[in-house]
Amino acid sequence: MVCLGNICRSPLAHGLLESKLNSQEYYVDSAGTASYHIGSQPDRRSIKVALNAGIDISAQRARAFKVKDFDEFDYIYAMDESNYADILRLSRNENDSKKVKLFLVANKSRFDKNVPDPYYGDMSDFECVFNLINETADLIVEGI
Ligand code: 4NP
Repeated sequence: MVCLGNICRSPLAHGLLESKLNSQEYYVDSAGTASYHIGSQPDRRSIKVALNAGIDISAQRARAFKVKDFDEFDYIYAMDESNYADILRLSRNENDSKKVKLFLVANKSRFDKNVPDPYYGDMSDFECVFNLINETADLIVEGI
């Protein structure tokens, strides 16, 4: 699960997917395409909105997406088209690039395929993003 800072959207996608999948079968992680927040906890508003749904993401720490992630993961989901383009730019071959998907492609009811960045928003923006990611995570789990 990849976004820009790895503190708002992808930690939610990481926590939600992890909560819906069997950990013996699936390893879920998240990263950011930018490095400003490396080592940080998720944004307190993401922590809060997840905790309201019973999911504790407070132990996550931000890290930067790295080329080696293409070797270590079967699926790489980008939260928006900008993250998607940044990840594809790092791909070395078709095997890498075919792993990269836009997260919202799984959600046919959404025309706009960008999970909005709530960083400069308020708690209601985080709630919207949580609901969108939650609904889409269910669709991804149904599809795999
Ligand atoms: P995220 O949100 O990509 O969902 O983690 C952002 C977090 C931080 C910044 C931008 C987006 N920032 O500019 O610091």
